[in-house]
Amino acid sequence: MDDAGTKPWTWILPDGHASSDWVRYRRRLETVAADRGFELSALGTACAEPLLMLRGGATSPSAPRLLVASGFHGEEPAGPWGVLEFLEAVDQALLSRVRLTVLPLINVTGFRAGTRFNTHGENPNRGYLGLPGESPSHEGRQLLAHRDLLLEAARDGLLTCHEDVLLSHGYVYSCERAAAPGAFSRTLLAANAAFFPVHADGAVDGCPIAGGIVFNHHDGSFESWLMELGVARAACVETPGQHPIERRIAAQRAMIETFLNFAPDLGD
Ligand code: NI
Repeated sequence: MDDAGTKPWTWILPDGHASSDWVRYRRRLETVAADRGFELSALGTACAEPLLMLRGGATSPSAPRLLVASGFHGEEPAGPWGVLEFLEAVDQALLSRVRLTVLPLINVTGFRAGTRFNTHGENPNRGYLGLPGESPSHEGRQLLAHRDLLLEAARDGLLTCHEDVLLSHGYVYSCERAAAPGAFSRTLLAANAAFFPVHADGAVDGCPIAGGIVFNHHDGSFESWLMELGVARAACVETPGQHPIERRIAAQRAMIETFLNFAPDLGD
């Protein structure tokens, strides 16, 4: 992943815009918020850019609370664009069953540059648990400062949208309060596998992987932090950067829909 860490990665989207076009991304996000009734706000500012948040869906206190977070790594643009396309197209009946919070683009400076890390060279998906040698990024400090809000928002499930730019196979990191992957993990993996071949058993990024799933891996990530705080389940989906950008965006959107569809089974 050395190349992925330093080299800029951008793609041309089907509409001719660059995958790093933050101005266009934000404009479409503002439009979808207005058109679909999402509440758009900023959790704060990191690296002189807003950390945007959208909230929508059910208002009932008993509805499942789900958090989708994307764009931690700037060379993984299919996540944020997939989130945007999901928001533009989401079925109202599906949306009305959950209390949804979305952090569509965590690392704006990395996204604009097409680089994994932010403009300060920090990894926005490390440093959440104070592990040795890790400290939070500017974005991470904002998220850590909103612990209670994020814990409540992700109470019944967290989905983060990532890519692995050097790979041709899809896979999923998942965390469940169980000894083996359950329906949550398997359903997300199946949604990924509808678009890409599944990563072989063995290891990926130093983690053991079986059946396309890295299960209950613990590190200093945003997912591990929220699992440690008590959310019910978490997954980090990975689309392979060696496939066309439009397919990766479609896969991200499909996996977010799958994540919401799983929600009615929560809390049984
Ligand atoms: Ni990533």
